[in-house]
Amino acid sequence: MPQFRVTRFTPSLISLFAPLLAAAIPSFVAAQPPAADDATGIPIASDTVRQACGSCHRLDEAGRLSRISFRRTTPEGWQQTIRRMVTLNDVTIEPETAREVVRYLANNLGLAPEEARPAAYEAERRADDHPYDDAEIQQICTQCHSMGRIISQRRTEDEWTLLMAMHRGYYPFADFQAFRRSGPPSDEPQPVDQAIAHLSDRFPLNTPEWTAWSATKRPARIAGVWLLRGQAQGIGPVYGQMTIAAVPGTDDAFTTETSYVYARDGRRVTREGRAIVYTGFQWRGRSVEGPTDTDGLREVMLVERDWQTMRGRWFTGAYDEVGIDVTLERVVAAPAIAGVQPPSIPAGQTVTLQIHGANLATTTDARSVDLGPGIEVVRVAATAPDRVGVEVRIDADAAVGARDIFLGQAALPGALTVYDEVHRIAVTPEAGMARVGGIRFPKQYQQFEARAFHDGPDGESDTGDDLDLGIVDVSWSLEEYAATFGDDDLQYVGALDAQGRFAPAVDGPNVERSGNRNNVGDVWVVATYSAASGRSEDDLRARAHLLVTVPLYLRWDPTAVEQP
Ligand code: HEC
Ligand code: HEC
Repeated sequence: MPQFRVTRFTPSLISLFAPLLAAAIPSFVAAQPPAADDATGIPIASDTVRQACGSCHRLDEAGRLSRISFRRTTPEGWQQTIRRMVTLNDVTIEPETAREVVRYLANNLGLAPEEARPAAYEAERRADDHPYDDAEIQQICTQCHSMGRIISQRRTEDEWTLLMAMHRGYYPFADFQAFRRSGPPSDEPQPVDQAIAHLSDRFPLNTPEWTAWSATKRPARIAGVWLLRGQAQGIGPVYGQMTIAAVPGTDDAFTTETSYVYARDGRRVTREGRAIVYTGFQWRGRSVEGPTDTDGLREVMLVERDWQTMRGRWFTGAYDEVGIDVTLERVVAAPAIAGVQPPSIPAGQTVTLQIHGANLATTTDARSVDLGPGIEVVRVAATAPDRVGVEVRIDADAAVGARDIFLGQAALPGALTVYDEVHRIAVTPEAGMARVGGIRFPKQYQQFEARAFHDGPDGESDTGDDLDLGIVDVSWSLEEYAATFGDDDLQYVGALDAQGRFAPAVDGPNVERSGNRNNVGDVWVVATYSAASGRSEDDLRARAHLLVTVPLYLRWDPTAVEQP
């Protein structure tokens, strides 16, 4: 492999400028006192925070620290700021102290559940930034990072203003790229000033949500057994249980034991983990599958206010791109259903179903299983406390549609769909992205998934009554996405495996490619579903666009905050 240099344009400039700029940002920026008449600001009671941050951030008579007391954010938000204190503001802090500071600040200057939820995709590290309802602000603020980073913050107007000053001081490109207009002078306010006005109004420090949450906030008592239901992109549903135990002597740290199966292939996984719950509802954990699993899965979830449900994402990968969407529900003594495999069954056939859940062993009486009209329960066999096998015969003229299912007193609405025909398949994501890597930078993979659909009663595709029949096995292939004459991307970008996972080629210029280009490009990802008739002309096809691009040479991702 030939040697090459990666052009790190922006960072080298930043590292060139940063020391100068750091010197130029006067210390009063950190110590700036709150306006005299300002009764806002959250006092800091923690000696650890006062000591770690108080040398630059001034403590006032009300117990408030300059800058710090005037904003609220997620644990990741606090951690990111502290990281900048270290990298750009020359702060030295022990990792253990930093964790304690993050914990205190996230708990006491955090977000309310209603504030955290719309921004959850940021901490859950979902690939797509959600569109923001003000397109102009989105345009100004998302050229370098996601909007999620912004909507997970609450600040006073002064703090929004100083944040913009920080950007312009440390990252002068911000002015050219987004903050100021080029062209002839005009009386219109500059984009950066519009942003300050908008954000101060939309995301102020004091909100009714935070006031209300502060009054009721307490450590969540979530020790116990939880039913796990998840969706792994491209692999399908997972069902299992998580047992949560409190770490003795703490009220917000937990250890976990998790066991689940991938419903489609029956593979069982057991994991052990640890977690912290910040602000009474923000679960941040990490679990490993045995001692050789060095990466593990990070767990980001929100605990619902009734402590009965948690939702979020477990993920891994160099770009956090491999993940499972999860829901956990507290298990009581009664049976509970997590899901059924397969989730869709063809009319006129006899099929064996696996019903996954908890406390199911007692439900082996066929009369206790009710799967709805047109589905006759032939036999029930408890295979394990968490799984019941049910043989069913579906009437040839059973109505097409989803059925609520019942097992004893447990129910799961819409869990099982009867269909007569597969009308189409669809590939998700419709637009995928991978990043070349493996030499200097890690690879970013992209998992695709093919699902089958029935057109529903209206007989038309892509309408509201379509029935999702679940993930199906397909054969995967790549095709050229002809964007230029003689497009050759297909030869270079990488390969798709039999499970729909795309692995990009290596990073860096490729001497074998014309123009010594990188292995980047775009292609179609094509899924072919074999028709029941066995005739290839009846096969169903669907495709998605895949962009294979360069690595992220510069990353500003918040680091993990789940270490207790
Ligand atoms: C050595 C001096 C120094 C120490 C110690 C220090 N800071 Fe800062 N802090 C600064 C400077 C300078 C700024 C303004 C520039 C900036 O935002 O990076 C700042 C700004 C901030 C801001 C406002 C940033 C924003 O996003 O607008 C926060 C919040 C903050 N610091 C938190 C902390 C916390 C928490 C600690 C303790 C762990 C801490 N700082 C310790 C120098 C310091
Ligand atoms: C030119 C690139 C660029 C643009 C444009 C930009 N940002 Fe940033 N922003 C950054 C960088 C880089 C960081 C990370 C700073 C750090 O912690 O080192 C950052 C960090 C932040 C943070 C976290 C700060 C902290 O202390 O934790 C917030 C909030 C933020 N930006 C808001 C905004 C808003 C609001 C806008 C639009 C008005 C915006 N950004 C536009 C580059 C940009």
